[in-house]
Amino acid sequence: MYRQITTGIRMKNALRSDAKSNIVLRCIPENKYFMKFDVAIIGSGLAGLSVALHLAQTCKVAIISKRALLDGASNWAQGGIAAVLDSGDSHEQHVSDTLIAGAGLCDESATRFIVEHGREAIEWLIEQGVPFTRDEKAELGFHLTREGGHSQRRIIHAADATGHAVQVTLEQKVRAHPNITLLENHFAIDVITSAKLGATNMSQRCLGLYVRDIKNGKVLTVAADHTVLATGGAGKVYLYTTNPDTATGDGIAMAWRAGCRVSNMEFIQFHPTCLYHPYAKSFLISEAVRGEGGVLKLPIEAGDAAGSRFMPAHDDREELAPRDVVARAIDFEMKKRGLDYVDLDISHQPPAFLKEHFPTIYARCLELGIDITKEPIPVVPAAHYTCGGVVTDLCGRTDILGLYAVGETACTGLHGANRLASNSLLECLVLGRAAAQYIEQQPKQKSIALPAWDESRVTDADEEVVIAHNWDELRRFMWNYVSIVRTTKRLERAQHRIRLLREEIDEYYRHFRITRDLLELRNLVDVASLIVSSALLRRESRGLHFNQDFPETLPKALPTVLSPARR
Ligand code: FAD
Ligand code: SIN
Repeated sequence: MYRQITTGIRMKNALRSDAKSNIVLRCIPENKYFMKFDVAIIGSGLAGLSVALHLAQTCKVAIISKRALLDGASNWAQGGIAAVLDSGDSHEQHVSDTLIAGAGLCDESATRFIVEHGREAIEWLIEQGVPFTRDEKAELGFHLTREGGHSQRRIIHAADATGHAVQVTLEQKVRAHPNITLLENHFAIDVITSAKLGATNMSQRCLGLYVRDIKNGKVLTVAADHTVLATGGAGKVYLYTTNPDTATGDGIAMAWRAGCRVSNMEFIQFHPTCLYHPYAKSFLISEAVRGEGGVLKLPIEAGDAAGSRFMPAHDDREELAPRDVVARAIDFEMKKRGLDYVDLDISHQPPAFLKEHFPTIYARCLELGIDITKEPIPVVPAAHYTCGGVVTDLCGRTDILGLYAVGETACTGLHGANRLASNSLLECLVLGRAAAQYIEQQPKQKSIALPAWDESRVTDADEEVVIAHNWDELRRFMWNYVSIVRTTKRLERAQHRIRLLREEIDEYYRHFRITRDLLELRNLVDVASLIVSSALLRRESRGLHFNQDFPETLPKALPTVLSPARR
């Protein structure tokens, strides 16, 4: 008893003979759960919505989102969007700050392309109506804040809830657009490629995808000339993360299974300041708090040293050093002194200033009994951003024709070994538009028959506990063995555990009807494996990847590129 993952035999043969004569099949929608679009976008974060809105004038677009439209990291973004918006700043400085944070591994031409399109991207958001915080004294009329690693104030923001302001504005636009079909609570399982259907003599092309309707459990076949992976990052692979529940690396895992290269997965960014509180699940304390004068101190548990600052001893840039440096410094102090957390103190700023600049953080902390105008905030580092991802060019193209990746799912080369704060929303906007422009110029494809999802040989799971247990085990050992400070032995241990988990999950997947938890776990295991394999291949420490067995940085910076063909 097993599931044929892609197709029934009859379909396979039909495609084979057709591929031989190089005639593309007409669509035979004998499958009643069938839909067809010009472009299918998986994900409704800033990357997905940007691609959709730039394409909707000319194309029929579907946005497929596994939960509600606003669920995703974009809606949670706090600090803002980095762009050169003041004449005292320059593209050169923004590029230089990005390259320094990226520890020699950024692709300079990708960085220039994204930085140089920054202003245009922000102007587009302003045109859409995003209510950025105003500052009448500023050149563009908007307040610019500062974050670690930036030599200038260049972060445009909407108080401390920038992502929400952006997403709510764009949500209204996509909901109102007649060319955009929204499939919320629809889970993309896997993309359908010509190779998976058995075609051997044509270039590998993406033809669409399978999507599970979460509400009724049915699996739709979605045909599309172009499929865009905009599924965000993979923070949920770690026990402690700032990320929402959606961040399970689905797009990276789907692309990898389909045959795309994946790069730089060892570089997982740990945000230094996630709120430490038993009732706060994943609440970030924005880096802008340090940008506006917040300092890190040892907490009361540190005895005589309590209240003293430790960042000056770690880096000249103190609290505004890049994130990898600050997160490692906190990790070092916590381990050395046996602390559960450190303090972030901004109580020296006037209460009115704090309430105006950080209304969300102020309110959330107060709900939990912490008054940030009077006392420090307990914080810990947590997994925050996936710097690596599916290898793409600057139009979002992957290794497979018709398949694109944009946003946190992609690896364009912008982030190198460590992302500069607030560069990711910028990348979603610039690459979202670039991918849309490329797609728009492509000739229409002829339709191809796509087979229905086959569930004839699977049954309902007998023991759901296996999935829950494996989710927990995976996230726990990834946190313990593969987080801020790594060793080769710990990485090998993790690799061994992953192999065992994968066997169990693959068997479960073959025999039982799919559920969201199973699909996400399958993706998380694939992503964990990519992170650990990449980390083992890097025999140095660089940026976010620190291995005690290889503490030096090699003179030459090279990306880690994993290829499914060479697996
Ligand atoms: P997301 O916004 O995460 O969207 C992914 C979408 O894909 C979601 O809609 C999800 O439901 C959907 N999806 C995933 N898998 C599937 C599937 N299998 N089927 C269907 N749908 C699927 N960056 C900045 O530049 N500035 C900031 O101030 C900032 N603050 C941040 C604060 C927090 C708390 C966090 C977590 C991140 C922050 N970041 C910030 C990072 C930034 O928010 C993300 O990198 C960015 O939003 C990613 O956008 P995205 O569109 O790629 O993915
Ligand atoms: C933050 O506000 O600290 C998050 C900024 C980012 O992740 O870019």
